Amino acid sequence: MTSDSRTRKGKTEGYDGLVARLDTARGAARAAIEQAGSAAALEEVRVRFLGRSGELTQVLRGLGQVDAALRPELGRIANEVRAGVEGHLTARGLRLDAVELSRRLEAERVDITLPGTTPRRGTYHPVSLAMADVERVFTSMGFEVAEGPDIETDWYNFQALNMPRDHPARDMQASFYFTADVVLRTQTSPVQIRYMRANTPALPVKIIAPGRVYRCDDDATHSPVFHQVEGLVVDRGITMGDLKGVLDVFARELFGPTTRTRFRPSYFPFTEPSAEVDVSCTICGGSGCRTCKNSGWIEILGAGLVHPQVLRNGGYDPEVVSGFAFGLGIERVAMLRYGIADIRLLYGGDVRFLRQFRPAGEGRAQA
Ligand code: DAH
Repeated sequence: MTSDSRTRKGKTEGYDGLVARLDTARGAARAAIEQAGSAAALEEVRVRFLGRSGELTQVLRGLGQVDAALRPELGRIANEVRAGVEGHLTARGLRLDAVELSRRLEAERVDITLPGTTPRRGTYHPVSLAMADVERVFTSMGFEVAEGPDIETDWYNFQALNMPRDHPARDMQASFYFTADVVLRTQTSPVQIRYMRANTPALPVKIIAPGRVYRCDDDATHSPVFHQVEGLVVDRGITMGDLKGVLDVFARELFGPTTRTRFRPSYFPFTEPSAEVDVSCTICGGSGCRTCKNSGWIEILGAGLVHPQVLRNGGYDPEVVSGFAFGLGIERVAMLRYGIADIRLLYGGDVRFLRQFRPAGEGRAQA
């Protein structure tokens, strides 16, 4: 055995051995590729066979020791194996991508047919509801809505309404003063004066003036802040009959078609004659119950024919025009409409209480 033949034999065995190893590597790569269950696992397989020190790479490195005559053939086989493995890797990668995509599509699927999450809606405050109802009734009768400031002068709030500084009627409206001349308005009546002065000599004057008013009172039926709606009509020939007609319509619209009104003589410095107006009890209909203290009637507002001096203070001539006015407490309307016993519930901010109220037609609140 010559060294030459030993060498040739070695190289010949090298050829066969390499072919065998290529074949084994091909089979192993194929199996590993099929088993890779993720892109990461597949990458590991690629490195294992085709990486720098990968199994196939090593086999290819051995090519150099093979007989030059056999090298091309071996190179062809090796390239074929390599291309096969690469093709396999690519195909498997695509399949894994597709699987991953459909898995994600399934997992992240949005069911657009599901109903949305209903946002929690607030409710209107019963005072706002009552206010809106009152405004609706009067604007439907052609009244305009006017407004005035919450911080008033003594003159507008009192003096122009026939309540000079020493007038005893001021005692009924315990007031918050800023200075001797500036006060949180105790009533919406000053809007009568402001509106007339801003609009004289236009006729008719036909307004309601809703708004907040303030008095130093605090008990089950009085709140230091509350709401009134003032009414004022001025024109030629306005009479008590007009006042009664308007208030009758108002009472029926607000409290129901069988509601009756009753006028009792009263006193206000800014009206003459003056009346307190009752409606037949909204709870018992007039037969007598706790709410109406068995009288069958509930007082809801003060009213009267505008005092001549008030017309003059507003810039109108009482020899030419006359008018009626009224003042209504909104909390009282809300309490009657919704059967609320204590005015403080309206200002306690308790959502369990407030959630019960919806505008008419929106149905009951949900628990
Ligand atoms: N301003 C009165 C009050 O707060 C209510 C009132 C009564 C207003 C009679 C009027 C009216 O316009 O004519 O007690």
